Amino acid sequence: MKFIHVTDTHIVPSGELLYGLDPAERLRLCIADINRNHADAEFAIFTGDLCHRGEPAAYTVLHECLSQLRLPYHLLLGNHDHRGNFQAQFPDAPRDAEGFVQFTLETAAGLFVCVDTNEPGVSWGICCERRLGWLERTLDAAGDRPVYLFQHHPHFPVGLKRMDEISLREAEGYIRVLSGRTNIRHLFFGHLHRPIAGSWRGIPFSTMRATSHQVELDLVIAGKVPGSHEPPAYAVVLADQDQTVVHFHDFLDNSPRFLL
Ligand SMILES: [Fe+2]
Repeated sequence: MKFIHVTDTHIVPSGELLYGLDPAERLRLCIADINRNHADAEFAIFTGDLCHRGEPAAYTVLHECLSQLRLPYHLLLGNHDHRGNFQAQFPDAPRDAEGFVQFTLETAAGLFVCVDTNEPGVSWGICCERRLGWLERTLDAAGDRPVYLFQHHPHFPVGLKRMDEISLREAEGYIRVLSGRTNIRHLFFGHLHRPIAGSWRGIPFSTMRATSHQVELDLVIAGKVPGSHEPPAYAVVLADQDQTVVHFHDFLDNSPRFLL
Protein backbone atom coordinates (compact mmCIF):
# COMPACT_ATOMS: atom_id res chain seq x y z
CA MET A 1 0.00 0.00 0.00
CA LYS A 2 1.05 3.56 -0.66
CA PHE A 3 0.66 6.52 1.67
CA ILE A 4 2.08 10.02 2.04
CA HIS A 5 4.00 11.35 5.04
CA VAL A 6 4.00 15.13 5.58
CA THR A 7 5.32 16.92 8.63
CA ASP A 8 5.73 20.27 10.38
CA THR A 9 3.49 22.50 8.32
CA HIS A 10 3.71 25.27 10.98
CA ILE A 11 0.74 27.21 9.62
CA VAL A 12 0.31 30.82 10.82
CA PRO A 13 -2.79 33.03 10.47
CA SER A 14 -3.54 34.42 7.03
CA GLY A 15 -1.31 37.34 6.04
CA GLU A 16 1.59 36.40 8.35
CA LEU A 17 5.01 35.08 7.38
CA LEU A 18 7.19 32.72 9.42
CA TYR A 19 10.98 33.13 9.15
CA GLY A 20 10.35 34.92 5.87
CA LEU A 21 8.22 32.10 4.41
CA ASP A 22 4.50 31.65 3.86
CA PRO A 23 3.78 28.21 5.40
CA ALA A 24 0.27 28.02 3.96
CA GLU A 25 1.53 28.68 0.46
CA ARG A 26 4.15 25.96 0.97
CA LEU A 27 1.46 23.54 2.09
CA ARG A 28 -0.77 24.42 -0.87
CA LEU A 29 2.11 23.65 -3.24
CA CYS A 30 2.80 20.40 -1.40
CA ILE A 31 -0.86 19.38 -1.68
CA ALA A 32 -0.97 20.32 -5.37
CA ASP A 33 2.08 18.12 -5.99
CA ILE A 34 0.52 15.20 -4.09
CA ASN A 35 -2.75 15.61 -6.01
CA ARG A 36 -0.87 15.72 -9.31
CA ASN A 37 1.45 12.78 -8.71
CA HIS A 38 0.08 10.58 -5.92
CA ALA A 39 -3.69 10.81 -5.89
CA ASP A 40 -3.66 6.99 -5.84
CA ALA A 41 -2.19 6.90 -2.33
CA GLU A 42 -4.45 5.55 0.43
CA PHE A 43 -4.09 8.62 2.64
CA ALA A 44 -1.68 11.23 3.98
CA ILE A 45 -0.43 11.40 7.57
CA PHE A 46 0.79 14.69 9.05
CA THR A 47 3.10 14.14 12.03
CA GLY A 48 2.49 17.30 13.99
CA ASP A 49 3.44 20.93 14.36
CA LEU A 50 0.42 21.57 12.18
CA CYS A 51 0.30 25.21 13.30
CA HIS A 52 3.16 27.33 14.61
CA ARG A 53 1.48 28.99 17.60
CA GLY A 54 -1.75 27.01 17.68
CA GLU A 55 -4.18 29.92 17.27
CA PRO A 56 -7.73 29.19 16.06
CA ALA A 57 -7.09 31.40 12.99
CA ALA A 58 -4.13 29.23 12.01
CA TYR A 59 -6.17 26.02 12.25
CA THR A 60 -8.77 27.67 10.04
CA VAL A 61 -6.08 28.25 7.39
CA LEU A 62 -4.87 24.67 7.80
CA HIS A 63 -8.38 23.33 7.31
CA GLU A 64 -8.81 25.42 4.15
CA CYS A 65 -5.52 24.11 2.75
CA LEU A 66 -6.39 20.48 3.56
CA SER A 67 -9.77 20.82 1.87
CA GLN A 68 -7.84 20.79 -1.42
CA LEU A 69 -6.16 17.43 -0.72
CA ARG A 70 -7.75 14.65 -2.77
CA LEU A 71 -6.71 11.97 -0.27
CA PRO A 72 -8.10 11.22 3.16
CA TYR A 73 -5.78 12.70 5.77
CA HIS A 74 -4.87 12.00 9.39
CA LEU A 75 -3.42 14.62 11.73
CA LEU A 76 -1.12 14.25 14.74
CA LEU A 77 -0.14 17.01 17.15
CA GLY A 78 3.35 18.42 17.77
CA ASN A 79 4.74 20.71 20.43
CA HIS A 80 3.67 23.82 18.51
CA ASP A 81 0.04 22.71 18.42
CA HIS A 82 -2.82 23.54 20.78
CA ARG A 83 -4.95 20.48 21.45
CA GLY A 84 -8.15 22.40 22.25
CA ASN A 85 -7.95 24.75 19.30
CA PHE A 86 -7.13 21.83 17.01
CA GLN A 87 -10.11 19.84 18.24
CA ALA A 88 -12.38 22.87 17.86
CA GLN A 89 -11.43 23.18 14.18
CA PHE A 90 -11.36 19.42 13.55
CA PRO A 91 -14.15 18.09 15.81
CA ASP A 92 -14.29 14.78 13.97
CA ALA A 93 -10.58 14.06 14.39
CA PRO A 94 -10.18 10.82 16.35
CA ARG A 95 -9.10 10.92 19.99
CA ASP A 96 -8.70 8.35 22.73
CA ALA A 97 -10.98 8.04 25.76
CA GLU A 98 -8.86 10.60 27.64
CA GLY A 99 -9.11 13.20 24.86
CA PHE A 100 -5.59 12.75 23.50
CA VAL A 101 -5.16 12.79 19.72
CA GLN A 102 -4.21 9.10 19.53
CA PHE A 103 -5.74 6.62 17.12
CA THR A 104 -5.12 3.60 14.93
CA LEU A 105 -5.61 2.98 11.22
CA GLU A 106 -6.27 -0.44 9.74
CA THR A 107 -4.30 -0.82 6.52
CA ALA A 108 -3.35 -3.61 4.14
CA ALA A 109 0.23 -3.37 5.43
CA GLY A 110 -0.69 -3.61 9.11
CA LEU A 111 -1.88 -1.49 11.99
CA PHE A 112 -0.82 2.17 12.01
CA VAL A 113 -0.57 3.50 15.57
CA CYS A 114 -0.51 7.29 16.00
CA VAL A 115 0.66 8.70 19.36
CA ASP A 116 0.04 12.13 20.92
CA THR A 117 3.29 13.55 22.41
CA ASN A 118 2.07 17.16 22.77
CA GLU A 119 2.60 18.66 26.24
CA PRO A 120 1.06 22.14 26.65
CA GLY A 121 3.51 24.98 27.10
CA VAL A 122 6.76 23.16 26.42
CA SER A 123 8.80 22.32 23.32
CA TRP A 124 9.73 18.79 24.29
CA GLY A 125 7.40 15.83 24.08
CA ILE A 126 5.76 13.82 26.84
CA CYS A 127 3.99 10.48 26.69
CA CYS A 128 2.36 10.36 30.13
CA GLU A 129 1.08 7.28 31.93
CA ARG A 130 -2.44 7.78 30.56
CA ARG A 131 -1.15 7.87 26.99
CA LEU A 132 1.22 5.00 27.63
CA GLY A 133 -1.71 2.95 28.92
CA TRP A 134 -3.53 3.43 25.63
CA LEU A 135 -0.38 2.61 23.66
CA GLU A 136 0.32 -0.55 25.64
CA ARG A 137 -3.26 -1.80 25.33
CA THR A 138 -3.23 -1.01 21.60
CA LEU A 139 0.04 -2.83 20.98
CA ASP A 140 -1.04 -5.79 23.10
CA ALA A 141 -4.29 -6.05 21.12
CA ALA A 142 -2.33 -5.98 17.84
CA GLY A 143 -0.69 -9.29 18.76
CA ASP A 144 1.84 -10.28 16.12
CA ARG A 145 0.40 -8.14 13.34
CA PRO A 146 2.78 -5.66 11.69
CA VAL A 147 2.66 -2.26 13.43
CA TYR A 148 3.82 1.11 12.09
CA LEU A 149 4.29 3.85 14.69
CA PHE A 150 3.72 7.58 14.13
CA GLN A 151 4.59 10.35 16.60
CA HIS A 152 5.88 13.91 16.52
CA HIS A 153 8.87 13.67 18.86
CA PRO A 154 11.59 11.03 18.56
CA HIS A 155 12.30 9.28 21.86
CA PHE A 156 16.07 9.08 21.27
CA PRO A 157 18.85 11.57 20.42
CA VAL A 158 20.03 12.09 16.84
CA GLY A 159 23.07 14.32 17.38
CA LEU A 160 21.40 17.71 16.79
CA LYS A 161 22.21 19.26 20.16
CA ARG A 162 19.28 21.59 20.83
CA MET A 163 16.76 19.31 19.14
CA ASP A 164 17.93 16.43 21.32
CA GLU A 165 17.10 18.54 24.39
CA ILE A 166 13.50 18.88 23.20
CA SER A 167 12.82 15.34 22.03
CA LEU A 168 10.52 13.01 24.01
CA ARG A 169 11.41 13.41 27.68
CA GLU A 170 10.86 10.90 30.46
CA ALA A 171 11.01 8.34 27.67
CA GLU A 172 11.66 5.36 29.96
CA GLY A 173 7.99 4.40 30.01
CA TYR A 174 7.71 4.69 26.27
CA ILE A 175 10.79 2.54 25.78
CA ARG A 176 9.43 0.00 28.25
CA VAL A 177 6.17 -0.28 26.28
CA LEU A 178 8.06 -0.84 23.01
CA SER A 179 10.59 -3.25 24.47
CA GLY A 180 10.43 -6.86 23.40
CA ARG A 181 8.00 -6.25 20.56
CA THR A 182 9.28 -7.68 17.30
CA ASN A 183 6.34 -6.64 15.11
CA ILE A 184 7.07 -2.89 14.91
CA ARG A 185 8.05 -2.42 11.27
CA HIS A 186 8.87 1.29 11.14
CA LEU A 187 8.76 4.48 13.18
CA PHE A 188 7.76 7.73 11.44
CA PHE A 189 8.19 11.05 13.22
CA GLY A 190 8.53 14.78 12.60
CA HIS A 191 9.97 17.56 14.79
CA LEU A 192 13.52 17.56 13.43
CA HIS A 193 12.91 19.36 10.11
CA ARG A 194 15.66 17.30 8.47
CA PRO A 195 15.87 14.10 6.40
CA ILE A 196 17.14 11.48 8.85
CA ALA A 197 16.85 7.70 8.72
CA GLY A 198 18.33 4.85 10.72
CA SER A 199 17.22 2.39 13.33
CA TRP A 200 16.58 2.41 17.05
CA ARG A 201 17.10 -0.95 18.79
CA GLY A 202 16.52 -2.60 15.43
CA ILE A 203 13.36 -0.63 14.55
CA PRO A 204 13.86 1.36 11.33
CA PHE A 205 12.88 5.02 11.48
CA SER A 206 12.60 7.99 9.15
CA THR A 207 11.81 11.65 9.31
CA MET A 208 12.30 14.45 6.83
CA ARG A 209 12.23 18.14 6.12
CA ALA A 210 9.22 20.23 7.00
CA THR A 211 6.97 21.84 4.43
CA SER A 212 7.97 25.10 6.17
CA HIS A 213 11.41 26.13 7.51
CA GLN A 214 14.23 23.65 8.15
CA VAL A 215 16.92 22.77 10.69
CA GLU A 216 20.49 22.96 9.44
CA LEU A 217 22.77 19.92 9.60
CA ASP A 218 25.00 21.22 12.39
CA LEU A 219 26.12 18.84 15.13
CA VAL A 220 28.09 21.54 17.01
CA ILE A 221 25.77 24.50 17.76
CA ALA A 222 24.18 24.12 21.20
CA GLY A 223 21.49 26.03 23.04
CA LYS A 224 19.73 27.30 19.89
CA VAL A 225 18.24 25.57 16.89
CA PRO A 226 20.20 26.43 13.71
CA GLY A 227 17.52 27.17 11.12
CA SER A 228 17.75 27.07 7.34
CA HIS A 229 15.73 27.50 4.17
CA GLU A 230 16.69 24.19 2.60
CA PRO A 231 13.98 22.84 0.26
CA PRO A 232 10.77 21.43 1.75
CA ALA A 233 9.81 17.81 1.24
CA TYR A 234 7.21 15.13 1.72
CA ALA A 235 7.61 11.38 1.59
CA VAL A 236 5.93 8.69 -0.50
CA VAL A 237 5.88 5.43 1.42
CA LEU A 238 5.36 1.97 -0.09
CA ALA A 239 4.67 -0.64 2.58
CA ASP A 240 3.79 -4.31 2.33
CA GLN A 241 4.51 -7.60 4.06
CA ASP A 242 8.11 -7.75 2.89
CA GLN A 243 9.37 -4.17 2.90
CA THR A 244 8.90 -0.51 3.72
CA VAL A 245 10.29 1.97 1.18
CA VAL A 246 10.41 5.71 1.93
CA HIS A 247 10.90 8.07 -1.02
CA PHE A 248 11.75 11.67 -0.08
CA HIS A 249 10.47 14.25 -2.54
CA ASP A 250 11.60 17.90 -2.73
CA PHE A 251 8.33 19.13 -4.17
CA LEU A 252 9.54 22.66 -5.04
CA ASP A 253 12.56 21.46 -6.99
CA ASN A 254 12.24 22.49 -10.63
CA SER A 255 15.63 21.41 -11.94
CA PRO A 256 15.66 19.91 -15.46
CA ARG A 257 14.19 16.43 -16.02
CA PHE A 258 15.49 14.13 -18.77
CA LEU A 259 15.74 10.48 -19.72
CA LEU A 260 19.13 8.87 -19.11
FE1 LIG B 1 8.35 21.67 13.87
